[in-house]
Amino acid sequence: MNYKYNIEKKFKRQWQKKIINWYEINKRDLPWRKSNNQNFYKIWISEVMLQQTIVKTVIPYYEKFIKKWPNLKSFYNASLDEILLYWQGLGYYQRARNLFKAKEYLKKNKLFISSSNLKQIPGIGDYISCSISAILKNENCAVVDGNIKRIIKRVFNLNENSKLFKKQIYYIAKELTPDLKNGIYCQSLMDFANLVCKVKKPYCEKCIVKNLCKFDGKQKKLNKKPKINKLGIGFFIRENKNFLVGISKKKLFQGLYSIPFSDFINNKENTEKELIDRIILDWMSLHNISQKYQILGYVNHIFSHFHLKLFVVDIKLKSKINLANYKWMTHRAYNSKPKSSLMMKVKKLMICI
Ligand code: ADE
Repeated sequence: MNYKYNIEKKFKRQWQKKIINWYEINKRDLPWRKSNNQNFYKIWISEVMLQQTIVKTVIPYYEKFIKKWPNLKSFYNASLDEILLYWQGLGYYQRARNLFKAKEYLKKNKLFISSSNLKQIPGIGDYISCSISAILKNENCAVVDGNIKRIIKRVFNLNENSKLFKKQIYYIAKELTPDLKNGIYCQSLMDFANLVCKVKKPYCEKCIVKNLCKFDGKQKKLNKKPKINKLGIGFFIRENKNFLVGISKKKLFQGLYSIPFSDFINNKENTEKELIDRIILDWMSLHNISQKYQILGYVNHIFSHFHLKLFVVDIKLKSKINLANYKWMTHRAYNSKPKSSLMMKVKKLMICI
């Protein structure tokens, strides 16, 4: 089946001109856009942060990060713990771990800015490689992220459920990409997607490409996935002023420091109380701990694919025990280690006792 679209030259010319003209007036003043900031390192860090995260959230993180490591050379000395600490709260920590791997790779390999070369770097895929080389070198590769996909889908009235959808998007994106000035063009689309062709309530009435667009402005009701509720227990195991802390191996929190916690259980059959007691007792017997415990409270946390209610259990020991993969730490030492947003919430419960 054919996924190719015949897009007239006149359409392309009009499209590019209108989008770029709009940008010249409406361009957002963003820290990574300042002309003295447009180098590989700064564009790279900003694009990694902007994956799956909105501009408003990214700005303070980006500014702190660049203050700490103003250029690639200074970033070469960063430890994984430090990078994770500066990433703390931004989520999707795999991005930070990939930054560490990437800078280790860059120490040993010459940097050459083209989309195909950048893709060799750990953590840099199709989107980031193209956006960096478009922004810095005007390479005319198709920059496609979720926002740009949405614009193309609407303009050409594409059916998202079609098997050809992805191919159609990339084909059209490439056809519309200008041979010159792709750096400005792709950033224009990023801003246009966020300010006009928004996910919810797009401004179709005043849209400058209305005459080129097939979108009827109506939002299709998304089939919202049912919310999955999970339950888990964090164990605040302390002796005097120390408590047990480990570096998580779980995919979601890999490399981050945390108190021990149970698996997160999908609660279907039991009452909450039954399930909590069962998880606590199973976990304690597995680790040969038989002291009394007290539930300090719980925190709620929303992950992209489930909601978690994490209870925190306080266990006071009379003498230290050894728990594989965990170390005894003071609050002060724990404070300086990178933690997930979930563990930041848990930490508040650990302090107020
Ligand atoms: N979203 C992804 N990359 C972006 C950029 N460079 N500017 C604004 N929004 C973006």
